[in-house]
Amino acid sequence: MKKHVLFVDDEPNVLDGLRRMLRGERGRWELDFAGSADEALDRMRAGDFDAVVSDVNMPGKDGFALLAEMRMAERTQDVPIIILTGRHETDIKRRALDLGAADLLNKPVEPQDLIARLRSVISLKDYQDEIKGQNAILERKVKDRTAELEGSRLDIIWRLGKAAEHRDEETGNHVVRVGCYSRVIAETLGADREFVEMLFVTSPLHDIGKIGIPDAVLLKPDPLDKDEWDVMKRHCVIGAEILREDSKVMNAFLAWRGARTYGDNGNAQDPILKMASSIALTHHEWWDGTGYPTGLAGEEIPLESRIVALADAYDALCSKRPYKPALSEAEALSVIHDEVGRHFDPAVSAAFEESIKELRAIRTELCDEASCLAGMGCSP
Ligand SMILES: [Fe+2]
Ligand SMILES: [Fe+2]
Repeated sequence: MKKHVLFVDDEPNVLDGLRRMLRGERGRWELDFAGSADEALDRMRAGDFDAVVSDVNMPGKDGFALLAEMRMAERTQDVPIIILTGRHETDIKRRALDLGAADLLNKPVEPQDLIARLRSVISLKDYQDEIKGQNAILERKVKDRTAELEGSRLDIIWRLGKAAEHRDEETGNHVVRVGCYSRVIAETLGADREFVEMLFVTSPLHDIGKIGIPDAVLLKPDPLDKDEWDVMKRHCVIGAEILREDSKVMNAFLAWRGARTYGDNGNAQDPILKMASSIALTHHEWWDGTGYPTGLAGEEIPLESRIVALADAYDALCSKRPYKPALSEAEALSVIHDEVGRHFDPAVSAAFEESIKELRAIRTELCDEASCLAGMGCSP
């Protein structure tokens, strides 16, 4: 493919001279000529050039202004420019190089010099373009790989939530629905996008700690006695422990990879694990301070947990469980309404009520008979 070269000079006879000088190169180069910097910039806006040769002294915009404008525009910033100067114009030469000229040529121009310089700057640009192309491919690959890893990470998180759900026979889409409800409530509350996304991903892990509760307690059909209830309450601490950032497995993994401890690798602040662990620990705290395991009250309870508490309760009330029938939505809303300010945060409850249509649509779409989450915009 022919390379496109633009020559800029206000003197027509200079351009004519260049045209004659390079007649023999027309098989290799497409030559274009502009009588001013503005005309040259117009040409470059309309088409791609591989090199520019420009005079410095021109009426209106001079060669420096042309150079500066070219360096500022994305389309032309990498196009090499050869500046033509007088033999002794040392200051001009220095300034041209400072502004990013690729090369300098003394006037009057010798044909062989001009051809050699043009070849050199064009092949350098080719090389740079090739590297740029390879970098773009590499960047795309890294991006794809990162998205893949992110996808598997989220998938594992959701499957972990489902594993815990199977443990106490709350099969179906409970954890998925809790994720979707939590996201909608957080959005209605005006939470930022990052928080909403993290909540969506981590809320299904709220009961992961049930994995550590014995069958005799977890699956007991009769009401739990005080001791059994104390065992049951431990699922919060167990869940937080499972999701804690300094897990032994992660430490072993990072030690194997050469990092000293969990955290040396920049993972100590992993926001997803942090939020997941916080939800697991505090999703049974009550707004009035009478919840468990710590008895936190009001805004001491992390916002994510105040949202999940309501999403989880709404879903549990509307779902059939081995020990209870499903309530109608009106009954569930009335139970929740009575608990505002006691169990539930009033602001979160208001956002919940405001979003009820959307929550209802999710509940219908992701009912326990639904085997597919497609079309909800709520799939993990
Ligand atoms: Fe729980
Ligand atoms: Fe739950």
